[in-house]
Amino acid sequence: MGERQAGSPLAGRVAVVTGGGRGVGAAIAARLVADGAHVIIAARSGAQLHSVAERLRAGGGIAHPVVCDVADPAAIQRLAETARSLQGRVDILINNAGIAPASPLLRTTLEEWNEALAVNATSAFLCLKTFLPDMIAAGWGRVVNIASTAALGGDRYISAYAASKHALVGLTRCAAAEVASRGVTVNAVCPGFIASDMTEQSVDRIAAATGRSRDEALASLAIRNPQGRLFDPEEVAAATAYLCTDAARGVNGAALVIDGGEGAH
Ligand code: NAI
Repeated sequence: MGERQAGSPLAGRVAVVTGGGRGVGAAIAARLVADGAHVIIAARSGAQLHSVAERLRAGGGIAHPVVCDVADPAAIQRLAETARSLQGRVDILINNAGIAPASPLLRTTLEEWNEALAVNATSAFLCLKTFLPDMIAAGWGRVVNIASTAALGGDRYISAYAASKHALVGLTRCAAAEVASRGVTVNAVCPGFIASDMTEQSVDRIAAATGRSRDEALASLAIRNPQGRLFDPEEVAAATAYLCTDAARGVNGAALVIDGGEGAH
């Protein structure tokens, strides 16, 4: 592959972004396109997915929507086949799709636990197994797993979510060690609360459970960040895009924390 164009650090690279129909995934897809990548956006909801891809194409980018439930191994295989038929290969994999169940440990069902593990961790394992071989063969690849600050510590009511995100960071570190000499990096990004639909749902849940207003529930999340705010999806997208560049080739197995300093003490 030739030199990257100035200002387009990902020119000509082909990326798959899971859960790209909204929120962080849509912001990552937009950022990678802006940086010159061709993006295959995979998510469950066809309508959202198509509107994100159309928006990116209207701006001159190359973006393909592919409907894919990442909890379904056969769907991941179909995603890989579609990606190869559309773009020939995949250089960058962003495991972003996620769900955030919340309930006290003793009320968390086995079904909720298994679903969190399947969507947040096993999907990344399956996507790594599917997409890494081509990256290793090409001698260049980037994988970014969107984890969470919940991947690095515990809290009340998020056993299944935190366990699945801890698994994702563990997977990141092990995969990074295995591909270190092959021109491929595998990293995680660990943000605190982001302004997205997922957080809106958390706010609704807290308001319903505690009787607090939505504003109070939102403030109780924003205060976790010493900067007193939610993060923008674009901040996560910028960190993710950096990890995909040639310049970041030395960063491997990292869990890049975006928490405004929450974990700094
Ligand atoms: P979101 O709920 O707005 O978006 C999640 C996306 O994943 C949606 O497009 C959804 O359709 C997709 N998805 C869920 N299950 C899927 C499946 N089985 N197959 C394919 N796609 C699926 O959430 P948001 O905030 O954009 O989250 C993105 C990632 O960032 C998630 O992994 C989440 O755990 C993580 N994160 C979110 C934080 C937050 O405060 N919202 C904080 C830290 C991490």
